[in-house]
Amino acid sequence: MSILIINIKELLQVRASNVLKVSGEDMKHLPTIKNAYLLIEDDNIKDYGSMDDCIAIIADKTIDAKGKLVLPTWCDSHTHIVYAGNREQEFVDRIKGLSYAEIANRGGGILNSAKTLQNTSEEDLYNQSIKRVINVIKLGTGALEIKSGYGLTVESELKMLRVIKRIKDELPIEVKATFLGAHAIPEQFKNNKKNYTDLIINEMLPKIANENLADFIDVFCEKGYFSIEDTDAILSAGLTFGLIPKLHVNQFNAFGGIALGVKYKALSVDHLEELAPQDIEALKESDTIPVALPSCSYFLSIPYTPARELIDAGLALALATDYNPGSTPSGNMNFVISTACIKMKMTPEEAINASTINGAYAMGISKDYGSISKGKKANIIITNTVPSYNYLPYAFGENHIETVIIKGKIMT
Ligand code: NIG
Ligand code: FE
Repeated sequence: MSILIINIKELLQVRASNVLKVSGEDMKHLPTIKNAYLLIEDDNIKDYGSMDDCIAIIADKTIDAKGKLVLPTWCDSHTHIVYAGNREQEFVDRIKGLSYAEIANRGGGILNSAKTLQNTSEEDLYNQSIKRVINVIKLGTGALEIKSGYGLTVESELKMLRVIKRIKDELPIEVKATFLGAHAIPEQFKNNKKNYTDLIINEMLPKIANENLADFIDVFCEKGYFSIEDTDAILSAGLTFGLIPKLHVNQFNAFGGIALGVKYKALSVDHLEELAPQDIEALKESDTIPVALPSCSYFLSIPYTPARELIDAGLALALATDYNPGSTPSGNMNFVISTACIKMKMTPEEAINASTINGAYAMGISKDYGSISKGKKANIIITNTVPSYNYLPYAFGENHIETVIIKGKIMT
């Protein structure tokens, strides 16, 4: 099946297929072709160029994109989209004055979601989760990382990871799975955390590896959760099973988690709302990409990741949603991009680079996703009629997406 998109007002993010991420100054540039065409064959981008050169191309289906923009789908490299129930009551409790930490300390937060998930069947968890995935596809997301971490028992972590696998098998969207057993310390291990990290290392990891259920391993490296020593032990064990690290670090406190991630050649270090000068120095020496999660900052009213400092230091930066029931009940990358522009002073070019090619890099898939490049997967957004790409983050809260194509399949 071939699809030809013609009369495209502007084709965005056109790059050589060997560009895997963009850093620093380069993030300010978004290469485009005005008045363009794009040819998709099966699940790949076959060709593109100026309309002046679009002669005698015949396709099974032609889409006229006059006045519209065409760009690669969003690559959301950090989500917890598989969860059970919701935490709307905690949302109201926070409005009334309780803090995120106070709610967690009285058994709410991650432990609350874990309790709900443990009492939810695999089938029900799948049904609740796949609805959310279908919704984010409509919002333009074409590749998704999904974490476990609301199971916190051997059985329930496996249940989450099996649901992630089933989503990956059922839908054309690219899915990467991350094992986040070290997301919180279950109540029964409160006074002997070592027994829980031992459970992760000696029981969960071998079973997950045996069923081939995860690509990456993650730890919530934070005060009151997992220390540098715990994180070190868990990442080291994960590596023996071939799981590449990604980390939750510096959300509330900066105490060396980033340097540890760099030491383990983490693919990404995520959150970074709190950043020390030595964190930036550590990242400069590495291939690890920082990932900012602005809708989490928005929802929890915590600081935004200092994107300007990171980019101005010459680093690459990715943006992701963090979609989860506690700190970010939203998987809308369009909102993430607007918020990054408005609150983090990223330019539209930087925010779009951070949400496409750099998001793909943060999942280790930028060889196949994240830009309009010959041979990459045909994951494409066609917008409605808009004046320019600046308009996408500018007119926030409005849906600008008309059509989403995933691996050559028209989804909406
Ligand atoms: O990335 N920070 C840790 N984990 C999630 C939130 C978890 C929750 O509150 O359920 C996050 O923000
Ligand atoms: Fe997260």
